[in-house]
Amino acid sequence: MAKKKGAGIIVFKVALWYITILSIFAAYTNWLPQIRGDAPEAAEAIDVSNVTPEDLQSMGEQIIFGSHDPLGMLARGEGPIGKGQCPLCHRFFMEQKADRCPNLIALKTEPQKLLQVSEEERSHERVKEPRYEEFKKLHANGEKNSGHIPHAETGGQYLIESEYCPNCFVVEGFGLKGTNDTESPMPIIDKPPILLVDTEIVSVVSFLQMRDDASKWTAKDSWEEYFGKDLASAAGDEEPVEEKPAGPPVALGSETAEEIVTKMTCYACHKIPGISVAKTGAIGPLLIEGSSAKRRIKSPEYKAAMKAGTAHATTPREYIIESIMDPSAFIVPGFVDDMLKDFRHKFTVSGLDVLVDHLIAQDEAAAIADGLDRLANEKEGPIKKPEAKLETGEAFAKNKPLGEGVQISRSMKDSSTFIGLN
Ligand code: HEC
Ligand code: HEC
Repeated sequence: MAKKKGAGIIVFKVALWYITILSIFAAYTNWLPQIRGDAPEAAEAIDVSNVTPEDLQSMGEQIIFGSHDPLGMLARGEGPIGKGQCPLCHRFFMEQKADRCPNLIALKTEPQKLLQVSEEERSHERVKEPRYEEFKKLHANGEKNSGHIPHAETGGQYLIESEYCPNCFVVEGFGLKGTNDTESPMPIIDKPPILLVDTEIVSVVSFLQMRDDASKWTAKDSWEEYFGKDLASAAGDEEPVEEKPAGPPVALGSETAEEIVTKMTCYACHKIPGISVAKTGAIGPLLIEGSSAKRRIKSPEYKAAMKAGTAHATTPREYIIESIMDPSAFIVPGFVDDMLKDFRHKFTVSGLDVLVDHLIAQDEAAAIADGLDRLANEKEGPIKKPEAKLETGEAFAKNKPLGEGVQISRSMKDSSTFIGLN
């Protein structure tokens, strides 16, 4: 009897929670037309032969932060994330809470080694590191995802290379788990979904170089040395880039799951079967909620969160909605509370439905079919037994499509000869 009463209270709580969320949605639905009225932000078309370094720096700032006043945005509790999406992973300001990756800026007051020098200063050191030579050997025939061969000779060229080929050099300690720091979680910046064009990448690098000292600017020359051609001539060949909306993006019911995942940047942190852009994310769990959600709700950890009053879901669907709308309600074991917190302001009810329908339809079989597996830090372990060991690192580097990295890396674990990075 007493049990039933308890269940009744929970049902009531969930209902209350739904009503709260639905009313937030209702408020946003009213607000939507204004957001949708914003002009789309197309690729910057500029005449590179005529721009000053300061123009490029300013354009880079806009691409990185989506604003020329990122500090003001932070002060207002907004996330300054522009179409380059760098701040999703990189920390540019003390005020910004996200440092999963090497800080791209001078934060000389912080103790960690990586933060002692600015990105501009650090870039010069990178190309002299013995590990850089190892990456040159590893990718002598072209890095598998980008086709580039590491060949930066100066700091400026290194920064350019980092955007086009994150795997060409992976900072120690920041590679995908289990890959011995040979695979970067960073997306290739000139490929979808970020898809910056050459001049935009030069402007982003201009911003990084000029942030501390405007005299350090080499971005355009560095690009031209690195690629052995004129930036102006290359700019002419560039295909027009898909329009991306400016202003706060909102997920709509008229969009596909793929579009919503792209727009909301879920792919930067999660692998998701059936979503072509979401094959490399490694900050959050593999999203196979058809398998995971019900397991989570039954777990002792989730029950503890319910008891503590933070978590409230009783069905897989509620669990997924709660994970997106209130990521801190429950932290998946093996992870930290690293998910973006403002999605509750960015979904319409129908947009959320489209995404939840997709996530709940994904299970372990779908992941395998898509060549995806759980991360090394997920408590459940690999979905299937690792495949037969690969002979050499080279075979791995050449033949394996992205997204299989985690799975392969497990079989690499005990082959210490793999690439031999020290
Ligand atoms: C999904 C997360 C993610 C996003 C988005 C991202 N990066 Fe990175 N980036 C990383 C990680 C992790 C590393 C360290 C591993 C490596 O060396 O690739 C890194 C490394 C770098 C490096 C080399 C740092 C060094 O000290 O050698 C540069 C430069 C860089 N990123 C620039 C950018 C810029 C500019 C953007 C936006 C256009 C960006 N990143 C977007 C995750 C990301
Ligand atoms: C900046 C990284 C990041 C982004 C962006 C992000 N997530 Fe997450 N997500 C995480 C992390 C880390 C966790 C695990 C910690 C936790 O439970 O909050 C997580 C957990 C989840 C879970 C629970 C998974 C499980 O198996 O229990 C779901 C569902 C989820 N995210 C969906 C999404 C969706 C949908 C988006 C895009 C709208 C998204 N996430 C964007 C980092 C991210």
